[in-house]
Amino acid sequence: MNTDTQPDTANQGSMASTDKPLMRITDLAVSFDNGKGPRIQAVDGVRLSVYPGQTLAVVGESGCGKSVTALSTLRLIPTPPGRYDRGTIDFRLGDGRVVDLLDIDDGAIRRIRGNDIAMIFQEPMTSLNPVFSVGDQIIEAIELHQNVRRAEARSIAVTAMADVGIPEPASRLRAYPHQFSGGMRQRVMIAMALACKPRLLLADEPSTALDVTIQAQILELLAGLKAAHDMAIMLITHDLGVVAQNADIVCVMYAGRVVEYARVDHLFAHPMHPYTRGLLECIPRLGDRGDRLVTINETIDRPGEFEQLPGARDGVRPWWPWHDPPPDLVRRDEPAGDYALVEIRTGHWVGLWRTAALADAAQGLPDLAWTRPESTAHSQGAQT
Ligand SMILES: Nc1ncnc2c1ncn2[C@@H]1O[C@H](COP(=O)(O)OP(=O)(O)OP(=O)(O)O)[C@@H](O)[C@H]1O
Ligand SMILES: [Mg+2]
Repeated sequence: MNTDTQPDTANQGSMASTDKPLMRITDLAVSFDNGKGPRIQAVDGVRLSVYPGQTLAVVGESGCGKSVTALSTLRLIPTPPGRYDRGTIDFRLGDGRVVDLLDIDDGAIRRIRGNDIAMIFQEPMTSLNPVFSVGDQIIEAIELHQNVRRAEARSIAVTAMADVGIPEPASRLRAYPHQFSGGMRQRVMIAMALACKPRLLLADEPSTALDVTIQAQILELLAGLKAAHDMAIMLITHDLGVVAQNADIVCVMYAGRVVEYARVDHLFAHPMHPYTRGLLECIPRLGDRGDRLVTINETIDRPGEFEQLPGARDGVRPWWPWHDPPPDLVRRDEPAGDYALVEIRTGHWVGLWRTAALADAAQGLPDLAWTRPESTAHSQGAQT
């Protein structure tokens, strides 16, 4: 459903370095047994893509399914209580073959973990073992994933530590995790994740536990490493300032679904889903004087506003589980059948109720091979 108001995609930014997505998630649904009653549907029909060299930011409130989505791509959901209900996660291997990460055998997914796809977590101590030196841990990870001897693994580890800005890396290899500051531990974890040159890095809240300066340094570091290795990053964060400065594409999730997916500049300039609009209105802006913050509830409770947005048509309403379904709802005999993720302007997908106006709308596959121009990428951090 493309309309007359189309964003200019031609003369800003650039395309990602290949025209093929690195990973494409289609209709991913994951649920958990809660011991009693119905299963918790943590993720319900997630669709997204990420291209080589892109940073895809995934945002949304606590419990909306961000971590479950990331963990699913490494098949790290504990089953039971978890279950992959449906969906595919297509991943392009280094040799160009595309595999469905949910469908390959255990040996194949183990080879992909840490090799093609690496993950860094919010709290580094959960992924570093306190009783081994960081050197032993990084070297072991390298030996496990790359077919090299110990001496070579050691030199790769020293390079990886130097790459992430750890001073005197050769001697720091002998230190234990508790001998590093929080920011340095985070760097160790990143060094470990990046030592094998993954093509996709899943960064789940990589910086929230750190102070703002170190957080900026870490994100700057990731941006530099991404450019050097043509790596893609899926950056999970609550911080919209971090999104504005680092993301190429933003994927907004709510209640287990993608409710909006667009270029970062388009999303901030024309947020369409009321949830996204609420998120953005909640950011206090410099220069706002004394204005009280608008809450999310206030934003969504202004009915009719959505219809005035560019590209919205009569009878098209944003999907919103708190509100009663619209009277002209068209039910589909399929999971999540009332819901359609629709390209409402070129390159801008929004989650909508399937009403009469949208009866035939196919579920869209959000797919954008765009990266931001160099000059706007991480501008503030880079100059200090
Ligand atoms: N191992 C588990 N067992 C049971 N339920 C789980 C499990 N892991 C996740 N869930 C549930 O799945 C839903 C999505 O969780 P998820 O961790 O993906 O949220 P999130 O978006 O990452 O939130 P946060 O921002 O707080 O990290 C939540 O309702 C959560 O309780
Ligand atoms: Mg999480």
